[in-house]
Amino acid sequence: MSELQLKHVRKSYGTFEVIKGVDLDIKTGEFVVFVGPSGCGKSTLLRMIAGLEEITSGDLTIDGERMNDVDPSKRGIAMVFQSYALYPHMTVRENMGFALRFAGVPKAEIEQRVGEAANILELGPLLDRKPKQLSGGQRQRVAIGRAIVRHPKIFLFDEPLSNLDAELRVHMRIEIARLHKKLATTIIYVTHDQVEAMTLADKIVVMRGGVVEQVGSPLDLYDDPANLFVAGFIGSPKMNFLKGVVETGTDGRQVRLPEFGNATLPIAAKEAAPGSTVTIGIRPEHFGETGSASLDLTIDMLEHLGGETFAYARHGDGEMIIIETKNGRGLKSGDSIAAHFDPAAALVFDAGGQRLR
Ligand SMILES: Nc1ncnc2c1ncn2[C@@H]1O[C@H](COP(=O)(O)OP(=O)(O)OP(=O)(O)O)[C@@H](O)[C@H]1O
Ligand SMILES: [Mg+2]
Repeated sequence: MSELQLKHVRKSYGTFEVIKGVDLDIKTGEFVVFVGPSGCGKSTLLRMIAGLEEITSGDLTIDGERMNDVDPSKRGIAMVFQSYALYPHMTVRENMGFALRFAGVPKAEIEQRVGEAANILELGPLLDRKPKQLSGGQRQRVAIGRAIVRHPKIFLFDEPLSNLDAELRVHMRIEIARLHKKLATTIIYVTHDQVEAMTLADKIVVMRGGVVEQVGSPLDLYDDPANLFVAGFIGSPKMNFLKGVVETGTDGRQVRLPEFGNATLPIAAKEAAPGSTVTIGIRPEHFGETGSASLDLTIDMLEHLGGETFAYARHGDGEMIIIETKNGRGLKSGDSIAAHFDPAAALVFDAGGQRLR
């Protein structure tokens, strides 16, 4: 059974519609990540689930019960925000127990729940400190602790790690994955970070302009995007997009690439109509020294990261192509290379951006 369901959910501020009909099923215990460009409606959707924002139309149900008009405190949801203001004059223990005290939970039970959350988050030795005596990561854990003590059915996180430095983010990312394993609670998590989305999610929801573009497991979205937007959004560095024209070759469909010296490659997409303009998508790591298709390129710039190299290359003054390689140490800018790839790895999109198969 799906625990949380959104049906045709819409949200308008006056005449400005920001959520334009979202349908979504989230199962019990699932870790769901919302991604999408700034302003696409991720926080609004999260806040509507929490009950902090009214739902203009459509239904939100949790365990089959309609929640649209249920008070936020009665939805079994706890939310952790990007800016997690802790009360500076209270200790960690008091910060974590505050909401329970406010709700009139008996003292002994507060003690027990705070102790349990502190255990999970390894905050035990810090319970009597004030927030200013904590590191950024410890403060973030207290903020998560405040949510845990409420024993919610669903956790909502809105970019909880974006205020932390890079090293701490990695550390907290692993802590959150561990927390999810331990508690097995449903989590809905908003992030701009590709790695967080790919590593934490059971299911990623890609949004754009108030609509859901695609829902799927991280690797499904990576390997099998439904359209050009999802293909370009998931993955860093981004998928390369090459303009092409569909032709009938000797062995079936092929695509000619006018900006790459009219190189041709066979394609499997039966939906691609001869004469039509398409976009070919190839991921940076799909280029290499083998593969039956190839592009003649000149290297413009190199980024050596140690383990791998990103080469930025182009044909003449055409579009820049990003190539990821493990053996790029010998390359220099100005080098001519033949970037080989297997045509089967190339995705095909029509002029409207829909995937052709
Ligand atoms: N109270 C409001 N009144 C009017 N418009 C609003 C209000 N709150 C949000 N919006 C608009 O709704 C749209 C979605 O905002 P939202 O905060 O959900 O985006 P987001 O996807 O979370 O973006 P970000 O990644 O930048 O946090 C934006 O265009 C925003 O300007
Ligand atoms: Mg937001």
